[in-house]
Amino acid sequence: MPETRIIHADDEEMKDAVREACALLRAGEIVALPTETVYGLAADALNPDAVAKVFAAKERPSFDPLIVHIASRGDLKTVAIVPEEIAEIVGKLTAAFWPGPLTLILPKHPDVPDLVTSGLPTVAVRQSAHPVFRAINKELGRPIAAPSANRFGRISPTSASAVVKELGGRIPLIVDAGACAEGVESTIISIEPRPGKKPIFHLHRAGPITKEQLQEYGKVEKFREKAGDLPHAPGQLPSHYAPLTPLILLENPADFKPEPGKKYGLLSYRGEDDSPYVTLHDWEIVEALSPGSGKLAEGAIRLFFVMRLLDEAGLDAIIAEPVSETGLGVAIMDRLRRASASR
Ligand code: TXA
Ligand code: MG
Repeated sequence: MPETRIIHADDEEMKDAVREACALLRAGEIVALPTETVYGLAADALNPDAVAKVFAAKERPSFDPLIVHIASRGDLKTVAIVPEEIAEIVGKLTAAFWPGPLTLILPKHPDVPDLVTSGLPTVAVRQSAHPVFRAINKELGRPIAAPSANRFGRISPTSASAVVKELGGRIPLIVDAGACAEGVESTIISIEPRPGKKPIFHLHRAGPITKEQLQEYGKVEKFREKAGDLPHAPGQLPSHYAPLTPLILLENPADFKPEPGKKYGLLSYRGEDDSPYVTLHDWEIVEALSPGSGKLAEGAIRLFFVMRLLDEAGLDAIIAEPVSETGLGVAIMDRLRRASASR
């Protein structure tokens, strides 16, 4: 593969970026594109050869299914078959949250190649809210399969430069539209209808659309694999989103036992000088998730960026402070737990 080109998708250059990305996608190539959550590695979802390139570039095992992105709600029927019993709730959810970071697991349309869904009878679908992604999806006129544009198991990229670090030299083009607005991957749910009652939403991955937001439409339960189910999708494996440097989620500051001579960095929530985590140790480096607003939304946006910074700081370990598990905090803690799971 020749070197990876980066094309900017600012207002004036948007048309060029859309044209170039679509030309490559039509030719069965793979392209990194910005979404509102994280950068995705895109391929024509209906072209199995192109989809195979996504798995190869990411070194992703073929049993980990991809998310399919559609340009409009009307396109849902081209990739999924919505059962009668959930048609109404699917309509409500897509009206409320699309375009946006909510992925629905639905029975798959036969046109979607098995490689995309790893042989599962279901497909994960969402409509991205990112203007550049939307323009490319619309212009292409076909669904786009796009997992996060990182190597398998690693930190998801929230900027074009992070994509270069993950996949530079492996893909022909990155469309650069700056930093991602959400910063963590979409919320993933499947829907279980209940006659006469609100449906159950099985939460496969916590994300920007929170439990609190979904509860208006149904009962939210953590997805649990049943015995005999197909292998776990690795997005749900305990170890994922992992820096190369060991990351330790320190639930209680008193549990920190630094080893002499080792270098530790702190992934703090606010980074305030007098916080019990900041004062705990003479850290090599302290990075705050939410130094400005102290809001979880800022923390989510900065999470993977800060994890990457700390990973590049030459530390022996990254110590992470927990955040409160409400709203977006659930998605942040999910990523921190998986990053800290032993490999
Ligand atoms: O925000 C996002 O969702 C980003 C952007 C690029 O759209 N994409 C993303 O894709 O995070 P990826 O591949 O990193 O995560 C997709 C995860 C899989 O690991 C798997 O856990 C789940 O989606 N998934 C996909 N299809 C599924 C299916 N049919 N059943 C259950 N889980 C599925
Ligand atoms: Mg991923």
